[in-house]
Amino acid sequence: MADNGLILVTGAAGQLGAVGRTVTGLLLDRGLPVRAMVRREDDRAAALRASGAEVVVGNLLEPADVYRVVSGCRRVYFGMSVSAGYLEATVTMAAVAREVGVNALVNMSQMTVSQMSIQNTTPSPQQRQHWLSEQALAWSGLPVITIRPTIFLEGFFLPLTGPSVRDRGRIELPFGRGKTSPVSTADVARVVAAVLADPGPHLGRIYELTGPRSQDMRGVAREYSEALNREITYADIPPEDWERELKKVGLPEYLTRHLVTMAELNRAGRYDRMADGVERVTGRPAVSVREFVSLHANEFGGRGS
Ligand SMILES: NC(=O)c1ccc[n+]([C@@H]2O[C@H](COP(=O)([O-])OP(=O)(O)OC[C@H]3O[C@@H](n4cnc5c(N)ncnc54)[C@H](OP(=O)(O)O)[C@@H]3O)[C@@H](O)[C@H]2O)c1
Repeated sequence: MADNGLILVTGAAGQLGAVGRTVTGLLLDRGLPVRAMVRREDDRAAALRASGAEVVVGNLLEPADVYRVVSGCRRVYFGMSVSAGYLEATVTMAAVAREVGVNALVNMSQMTVSQMSIQNTTPSPQQRQHWLSEQALAWSGLPVITIRPTIFLEGFFLPLTGPSVRDRGRIELPFGRGKTSPVSTADVARVVAAVLADPGPHLGRIYELTGPRSQDMRGVAREYSEALNREITYADIPPEDWERELKKVGLPEYLTRHLVTMAELNRAGRYDRMADGVERVTGRPAVSVREFVSLHANEFGGRGS
């Protein structure tokens, strides 16, 4: 099977963590040809095209679209937004990848899957779909590399703590005293890009990815304070209040259920975990909370004088 080098990146427009968009940029920087799959033509698609990617429009829930975008590619990054059709999209991708024949399929999953089994699941429909998706990919016999990151700095902490840090100097989350080790999607994307650039040594592996420290939210708040040069405190808010706020801003029920479960698991200490996947694959240590907040200081309301 010839590998002409063209790499497919799905979910490339990027909405929250934007792993696909960052992977696209990193692969292009390495001089590798990328086909970037987006859901629609918009400014993000135009920016991908301007950066040198071949942009294709399609729906990951439409088998004919998936067949069209995978054809001609031998390496694939598969990831998409947290959504109800995740398992269907994964199985569609697996069926197409078997039909077309790929040399490497990098699957975005979640670190919670490491703690799940038939007997031990979670109330998050997304986490259940990732667990089932990993099962289906294992049965498929495809050359899969599994990426299991913990909670994202870009996709969770930035959107969900940015406004209260900006307005009140507080991180307001129902995480109790639970420890957590958030990872930057910039690091996740670096891992994915390194694997796609040279998949051979990684085939069949599972990479768990965390940040460099597991600490409770008071520790996280201290890192925010150091980065922003002003006092940021942690307020442990009641889970029901948080859920009400998520509903008020109009998040879909499916996503809300997932976020509420993430908070429950954080509170229960289930996100107190450390893994060395970032350093092992990229040779560089994972970005810390302090470095991340410093890099995004404006979005957190700027630095104190
Ligand atoms: N957030 C976290 O803390 C966390 C932690 C660990 C793992 N994860 C996993 O990371 C993944 C999300 O990664 P991310 O944050 O990088 O994603 P993202 O930025 O939300 O981007 C995903 C892209 O998928 C596209 N998409 C959605 N449905 C599609 C469809 N039916 N057909 C084609 N494209 C579609 C979206 O397009 P539009 O923008 O046009 O809608 C979006 O740009 C999920 O698997 C999630 O479970 C997340």
